Amino acid sequence: MTRYAIAGSGSIGTALARLFARAGVEVDIANTRGPETIDPIGPGVRPVTMEAALTSDVIFMAVPFGAVARFGGQLPDWTGKTVVDMTNAHYSPGSAEILRGRLSAHYAAEQLPGADVVKAFNHLAAADLAAEIDSAVGRRVIFIATDVPAAGDRIAELVGALGLAAVQLGRIDEGGRLIQAPHALVLRNLIELAG
Ligand SMILES: NC(=O)c1ccc[n+]([C@@H]2O[C@H](COP(=O)([O-])OP(=O)(O)OC[C@H]3O[C@@H](n4cnc5c(N)ncnc54)[C@H](OP(=O)(O)O)[C@@H]3O)[C@@H](O)[C@H]2O)c1
Repeated sequence: MTRYAIAGSGSIGTALARLFARAGVEVDIANTRGPETIDPIGPGVRPVTMEAALTSDVIFMAVPFGAVARFGGQLPDWTGKTVVDMTNAHYSPGSAEILRGRLSAHYAAEQLPGADVVKAFNHLAAADLAAEIDSAVGRRVIFIATDVPAAGDRIAELVGALGLAAVQLGRIDEGGRLIQAPHALVLRNLIELAG
């Protein structure tokens, strides 16, 4: 069974954990200060150490953009892991100097050698991501971009299991540009209508 972990227990990490709890999909969650600092979020959401979280198969990187390099340095080799980059560099002071023209997901991939990097779950504010939608109305759209199609499919399957609608945008430097803040799809809270 795939093991999921959320690295970062701040606004967006907690919002994502709520979606896991609601859907009954188990997930670990960690921050820099230890599991005892994480308030209960919901059934199946287990606070763990960051070291334990990094043993998971799929890791959601819900840390400030400025912490990505430090985050990546925690493992010498990320081969075999899928890392979902939830960061938005655009809103982080000094990000232009760090990126020097690169897309943030490509920069993240450089900091996570060997990982299959997927850009997703970054385009909405935390409150919108976690807000419930009546299933009779539809499902919230989650955009996915990656240069590793199998990893994109893996995350799309999870998105469906969380009760959301996956829309794959293709490669990071193609459709994926649209979810790199401040581009066109960021902060667009879309719903795939039922029926
Ligand atoms: N907030 C939103 O609505 C939203 C929406 C979409 C995307 N995002 C993006 O998501 C990312 C996180 O945003 P946020 O608002 O959730 O931030 P936040 O509330 O400040 O939480 C950041 C979390 O990252 C952890 N962290 C910091 N440095 C770390 C490191 N080196 N290794 C592991 N964990 C580390 C922090 O640990 P401690 O708790 O121990 O300090 C904290 O739990 C940002 O890149 C942001 O652009 C945010």
